[in-house]
Order: sequence, then structure tokens, then C-alpha cells
Amino acid sequence: MKKEEILKYVTTKRAQPYRWVALEGLIAKYKLKRIVEIGIHKAWCPIHILSCPETKNIIEEYWGIDPYFSKAPCHVPSELDKQKVVWGDFRYEHALKYTMKFPQFRLLRLTSDKASRLFSSEYFDLIFIDGDHGHTCVRNDILNWSPLVRKGGFITGHDYTPVGKCRHNGVREVVDDIFGKENVIVTGIDSVWAYRKE
Ligand SMILES: C[S@@+](CC[C@H](N)C(=O)[O-])C[C@H]1O[C@@H](n2cnc3c(N)ncnc32)[C@H](O)[C@@H]1O
Repeated sequence: MKKEEILKYVTTKRAQPYRWVALEGLIAKYKLKRIVEIGIHKAWCPIHILSCPETKNIIEEYWGIDPYFSKAPCHVPSELDKQKVVWGDFRYEHALKYTMKFPQFRLLRLTSDKASRLFSSEYFDLIFIDGDHGHTCVRNDILNWSPLVRKGGFITGHDYTPVGKCRHNGVREVVDDIFGKENVIVTGIDSVWAYRKE
């Protein structure tokens, strides 16, 4: 199927243009059952996708991968310091709660490279790459995880922003370099990119 046709299903009429809306469009159209998200953070994507009427009954497994390192970015409220709460643990516990709510949701507190060794090839229907945004890490994530996506499945990710215009400017360069710019589907929703594996 051509890029333009795939885009029709990604771009939905939903009001909030967040990253999970782009993923929901693909999951619903292509009946994608096994999903993995690299860099799951507080599990915002599965919280929405596993509640969404169009996708919640399709998904069999939604894996979240994150090492939850303790170092907090500067925007984290100092309240956490006062309460002596460790940023990594705080986020992990937030995500962990949702493994109780959604039986399909599984959480691995591991780096993406370690986690990638746990799955057999072509296990997943869709991978969403949103972990460490440095050039080398994005490249490693794509190269390590792509073999774990079945043919016809999707390799996707966040922060495909114009080069030089954002602090995540490595993502676009690496994605274009690996897949070829002309083959990358730019969803237009929250800078989500996608590539359909042949
Ligand atoms: C931008 S946030 C992810 C946001 C999340 N995907 C969402 O949509 O809400 C990046 C995440 O990558 C995680 N991360 C950092 N290094 C990682 C690694 N080596 N493997 C997997 N995740 C990593 C961070 O802990 C952080 O939670």
C-alpha cells in the first residue's frame, strides 16, 4: 500500500493531536496486535490506546520498555526532592499501576538494548521508538528492534522534527538515513514517523 493510502488511516478526526492518536489509526486499520514502546515513561500512550474503543480489543500485548534512570530533567518539580522521591522510581510506579488496569500491558525496567534480546524475530506488529534521543541510541534502537517486527508491520517513532529546529534533531537524520527519506511516512500528528516493513 502506498504512503498516501496509509496516511488516510493515521490521520483521524480526533480532536487531540497527540502521538497515541497516530498509533491508534494504524492499529485499528491494520489490526496490529503486538506492540512495543521503547521509552514508555509514565505510560501515557498505552493508557490512551488501551482505553480507545477502536483499538482496545485488537491489542493482545503492549510492552513498555524503560530503564527509569533516576536523573531528573530540570523541569521536574522540586516537590519530589522534598518528599525524597526518586524520579526514576516515581515514573516506574506510575506506569506499573496500569499493568493492573490493562491485562495486555507489560512493563520491563530495562534498557532497550537489553530488552531487545528477549524477543524472537518478527514477534511484533508495531514498534514505537521514543527512548534516548541521541543519534547513536536512535540508530541502535532502529537496528536492534527492526528485525523483531514482522513483514507488513510498522516501525514508528516520535520526534521526527525539522533538523536543527529542536533539541531532538538527531531523530530525523537517523530515520531518513536508515529508511530513505522518500520511504518515511510523516504522519503530521505530534511528529510521529512511520515506516512499513516490506
Ligand atoms: C521522551 S520520554 C518517552 C515519552 C513516552 N514515550 C510518551 O509518549 O509519553 C523518553 C524515555 O526514554 C527513556 N529512556 C532513556 N534511555 C533509555 C534506554 N536506553 N532504553 C529505553 N528507554 C530509555 C527515558 O527514561 C524516558 O522515559
